[in-house]
Amino acid sequence: MKTPKQAASADVQKKETLNVAIIGFGTVGSSVAKILSSHPAPGLRLTHVYNRGVARKKVDWLPKVKWTEDIDEVLSADVDIIVEVVGGLTPAGDWIRKALSSGKSVVTANKQLIAHHGLELIELARKSGRHIAFGASVAGGVPVISGLQEGLAGDELSKIYGILNGTCNYILSQIDKRGISFSEALAEAQKLGFAEADPTDDVDGFDARAKLTILARVGLHSDGKPEKVLCRSIRPIEAIDFVYARQLQSTIRQVSWAELIGENLLAAVQPAIVSESSPLASVEGGRNLVMSTGKFGGEIIFAGHGAGGNPTAVAVVSDILAIARAKHGGSNGLAEITAVPRNVTNNYTSRHYLRFIVKDRPGIIATIATILSKNDINIDSVLQKPGYSDASLPFVITLESCKSSLVEKALEQMSRLDFMVQPCVHLPIL
Ligand SMILES: NC(=O)c1ccc[n+]([C@@H]2O[C@H](COP(=O)([O-])OP(=O)(O)OC[C@H]3O[C@@H](n4cnc5c(N)ncnc54)[C@H](OP(=O)(O)O)[C@@H]3O)[C@@H](O)[C@H]2O)c1
Repeated sequence: MKTPKQAASADVQKKETLNVAIIGFGTVGSSVAKILSSHPAPGLRLTHVYNRGVARKKVDWLPKVKWTEDIDEVLSADVDIIVEVVGGLTPAGDWIRKALSSGKSVVTANKQLIAHHGLELIELARKSGRHIAFGASVAGGVPVISGLQEGLAGDELSKIYGILNGTCNYILSQIDKRGISFSEALAEAQKLGFAEADPTDDVDGFDARAKLTILARVGLHSDGKPEKVLCRSIRPIEAIDFVYARQLQSTIRQVSWAELIGENLLAAVQPAIVSESSPLASVEGGRNLVMSTGKFGGEIIFAGHGAGGNPTAVAVVSDILAIARAKHGGSNGLAEITAVPRNVTNNYTSRHYLRFIVKDRPGIIATIATILSKNDINIDSVLQKPGYSDASLPFVITLESCKSSLVEKALEQMSRLDFMVQPCVHLPIL
């Protein structure tokens, strides 16, 4: 009886064996090795594992592998597919360029590298007659890249949005459920291994921004610079925001959102108010969810484990198998990516949630309402829970649908008001 992976790779049956090398024997690299060694696919052989200080990485369950800390030994070896799971722009990028130029195909999980240099690397692979596959770079084990590229190739997608960062999801769920502060939730996530010692990439949105850039390229055929994508941190979110969100039959999630608006690409990663009835609200812990909207097929949802060694390694091994199929002329799952450069805009239209903390005195709402009205913004509701101190009084104003640029302009004017205890928290209501 064949394992599913062996069955899936049955059409890879080849005249030759493809040699695979893993660069980076960490969380993902070791899981890839485990899958390849415990359920060997016909026609694939893991021949090399590279890592710095490799002696401390060696494991006895990979007896036939050449362990090395000399990258040139791997790049010059008779290897067909290099699996890059080191991470970072350099030196990983240079190693991938060398691998492609010397006739090797590449599988990578490196979202930052693909977001910043993906098109250049795809072009290099094309010129070399090889492949670069990066299914593991977005949403870990959820096959969203191949789903958008292949499964939805027949549709014309206009929007892709979802939850792409499990760390933010975990932190926000804990603030929500237990009423703890952002710093407490972060410290706990770090202790449990759900957040890095330096959480910047996750909580400030840079990780999700790289993934969104890749999804926009693959699904919306739009190439926007990652630096231009609006990126807002979840750090200012407090337990009180969940209290008000619940009053709006909603919760708060870090939402990544890319949409074609005329010739522009709207792209943003930010905490947002999402309705309790939205699939986004039901995403818990480290899970990811991506939704796409197509002209013909409507809404499609991809969901599952967005990170972790094994789920990510599944995506890597699936890419290795796709390259092996391509090499033998079969269906390859490695569609060409055609993306046109697009201007990235951050000016979205939605309802808005504004949470203020003020030193209370008469006339505050009137002052804020006047500024909003001068900027052509209509108030939808004012929410205020009783029981807070006058020295630090939270309340919320929700706004009718309008451009985010108008709200930002009004907030800039409000920031100078003497009763503001801290900057207003501004979230779109999706
Ligand atoms: N972990 C996940 O859930 C996940 C999910 C999706 C995508 N990814 C992506 O997968 C890639 C790998 O992630 P990971 O979690 O497996 O990271 P990791 O556990 O830190 O593993 C990286 C490995 O590469 C080695 N390495 C790093 N820099 C090196 C260098 N300059 N020279 C030689 N070896 C070097 C590290 O060695 P040392 O032990 O010496 O540091 C480590 O063994 C990243 O691009 C990441 O974004 C990860």
